[in-house]
Amino acid sequence: MKQTPVSHKLVDRLIEASGLDDLTGASIREIVKLVNELERESGTKYIRMEMGVPGLEPPEVGVEAEILALRRGVASRYPMIDGVPELKREIRRFVKLFLDLDVSEEGCIPTVGAMQGAMAAFMVANRSDRNKLGTLFIDPGFPVQKQQCRVLGHDYESFDVYDYRGEKLGPKLESYFKTGKISTVLYSNPNNPAWICFTEDELRTIGELAEKYDVIVIEDLAYVGMDFRKDYSQPGVPPYQPTVGHYTDNWLLLISSSKAFSFAGERVGAMVIGDKLFSRTYPDLKRYYTSDGFGYSMIFGALYALSSGVNHSAQYALAAMLKASNDGQYNFVEGTREYAERANFMKRVFQENGFKIVYDHDIDLPVGDGFYFTISYPGMKGDTLMRNLLPYGISGISLAISGSTHTEGMRACVSQIHKSLFPLLEERLKLFHKDYPGSK
Ligand SMILES: Cc1ncc(COP(=O)(O)O)c(C=O)c1O
Repeated sequence: MKQTPVSHKLVDRLIEASGLDDLTGASIREIVKLVNELERESGTKYIRMEMGVPGLEPPEVGVEAEILALRRGVASRYPMIDGVPELKREIRRFVKLFLDLDVSEEGCIPTVGAMQGAMAAFMVANRSDRNKLGTLFIDPGFPVQKQQCRVLGHDYESFDVYDYRGEKLGPKLESYFKTGKISTVLYSNPNNPAWICFTEDELRTIGELAEKYDVIVIEDLAYVGMDFRKDYSQPGVPPYQPTVGHYTDNWLLLISSSKAFSFAGERVGAMVIGDKLFSRTYPDLKRYYTSDGFGYSMIFGALYALSSGVNHSAQYALAAMLKASNDGQYNFVEGTREYAERANFMKRVFQENGFKIVYDHDIDLPVGDGFYFTISYPGMKGDTLMRNLLPYGISGISLAISGSTHTEGMRACVSQIHKSLFPLLEERLKLFHKDYPGSK
């Protein structure tokens, strides 16, 4: 048996006890639980790359605004479901200044994280036409969104975009859209887990096909502005965060404060609905809601039923952080650039030790460095790779659960890997590669 930081015996025993027979099927939270137990029993700290917990401090301006709001007494009052005016105003400005999209304040709605935004979007958009079945996920993607569709009883389709970039994207999308069964199409940009980013041409393709087949696009901007290859950080100055909103009226955006502002704990984000979609009527919505209006059903149907609005004080925090960004007083992109530096180093040491980056290109450009990257180890299938890395004190999640079908591998998240852990990561990877030298 190889000498490893954590014994193979312990790893095998705890995997067995967890009841997870194939680690590639384990959810993020199940891996978190397993690694917590491994750390506790072995006394060894892991290089934990399984969960996208922001690893940075939240901006002071947000924390202060939330404290002040609580001191003003907002805790005792229900917030309006469609959001406090200050926040609606700053969301609208943010979308104009950083995405160059015009939208009315009525379509700028706070949500309990982008997570709730997706749930509400499915609840309304997937019910807008009785003849359609549900969502097309452009994978790889964030697994919980499929779980949301499942708990709602919505059907979904998905495909791995790896082989369908550029000009191949249109025909692939069309093959699904022309069935007439697709209500919504969802992707994240930058992408969790691959950190690929659609080009303007690809977004145009998605937008034009959404118009042609009357599909609603749910564009998940959980990592807004974080394609660090470009500088999207200056309000009102190009380049802007690319968005499908320039190519179709059928758009709905999900914005998260979790990563851009390291505000995950407060569970506050925003949904932004394009004006035309907001005011559109869909008679089939009346099966579930009192109105056939899309925006009205979203606010007084879905969001009312889900949580009756968003944490009052956190809305003021988000308003303050957006305002500081909009006014050019806080650079939220610079605030997260640390992740790119970590990814750059980590990708290099993984590759020096026999690993390959799975999603490595955006058509002709190397994929950027950011919050996640994807790895494989030639000759090792996903489950074996995950099991084999655990004794070396390294954890991540499988690529398979993100809908990736191209190469079996893992998603690595850089957020918990502070620079002080780099030497340890390098040492462990070297040992792993020495013990499994099969590939280079
Ligand atoms: C692609 C994607 N969408 C949505 C979310 C959820 O974001 P929030 O924390 O705002 O609910 C995440 C969180 O990791 C994500 O990666």
